[in-house]
Amino acid sequence: MARPPRRLNEPIVNGWLFFRYVVIGLYVGAATAAGFLWWYVSFAAGPRLPWRALTSFQTCKEAAAVTAGYSCKVFSDLRPRTIAMSVLVIVEMFNALNNISENSSLFAIPPWDNSWLLAAISTSIALHCLIMYCRPLAALFGITALGRAEWKAVVALSAPVILVDEVLKLLARRAAAAAARPGKRRGGGGNGGGVPRSESSSGLLLPLGSIQVVSPLVGGGGSEPDKSN
Ligand SMILES: *[C@@H]1O[C@H](CO)[C@@H](O)[C@H](O)[C@H]1NC(C)=O
Ligand SMILES: *[C@@H]1O[C@H](CO)[C@@H](O)[C@H](O)[C@H]1NC(C)=O
Repeated sequence: MARPPRRLNEPIVNGWLFFRYVVIGLYVGAATAAGFLWWYVSFAAGPRLPWRALTSFQTCKEAAAVTAGYSCKVFSDLRPRTIAMSVLVIVEMFNALNNISENSSLFAIPPWDNSWLLAAISTSIALHCLIMYCRPLAALFGITALGRAEWKAVVALSAPVILVDEVLKLLARRAAAAAARPGKRRGGGGNGGGVPRSESSSGLLLPLGSIQVVSPLVGGGGSEPDKSN
C-alpha cells in the first residue's frame, strides 16, 4: 500500500491521540488483570483466596492449601483466564463505540447511527460466545463457559472504557474550542511578546502542537483569569 506523503507540518506522532491511546491501553490492561484477580480473591462463588496464596501459586502445597480452605487445583481453573480474555474482547467492543467519533460524545452521535459497526460488534460477541459455549472449541482455546455473575463482572469491568474516553473527548473538545478562540492564548511564562497562535503560525509549533493545545487544561485554573479580558 502506498502511503500518502506526509505534509510538512504534520506531526510524526499526534501527541494527544497517542496520550489517549496510552490511557485507554492502561485501562484495558488494568481491567483484564482485575477480572482475573476478582475471580480468585473476591468473587462470592470463587475460592476467595488470600492474596499470599495467589502470589505463591507456583509453590502451592496441597496439605497447606487444604488447611487454609482451598485446593491447589483452583490454579488450573479455566474460569479466571476466561474472564480475563472476555474482558479483553468486550472492552474492545465498547472501545469500538468510542471510535464512532474522534471528539464527539457517544451521547451526541449515538451508535445506532452506524448499523455496520453494531453488526460487527454483535458478530464478534457471537463468535466469542461460540468458542466459550461450544465444548470442542472451548477446549481448543483453553477457556470454559462463564456463568451469569461472571459475565456481569466482565461487563462491569469493560463498560467504563466508554467513560474514560468520554472524559478524554471532553478535554479534546474544550482544547479545540480554546484554540479556536482568537487572541486568548498567552505564553506560560507571562511573556507578553509570545508567539501569537493564529492558525497560520502553527507550522513550527505543530510537532508539539497537540500537547500545547492541551496544556491550558492540565494547568487547570492557572490560565483562566484571561477570561476577564
Ligand atoms: C478510529 O480508530 C482509527 C485507528 O486507531 C483511527 O485511525 C481513526 O481516526 C479513528 N476514528 C475516529 C473517528 O476516531
Ligand atoms: C479533536 O480534538 C483534538 C484536540 O483538541 C484536535 O487536535 C483534533 O483536530 C480534533 N478532531 C476533530 C475531528 O475535530
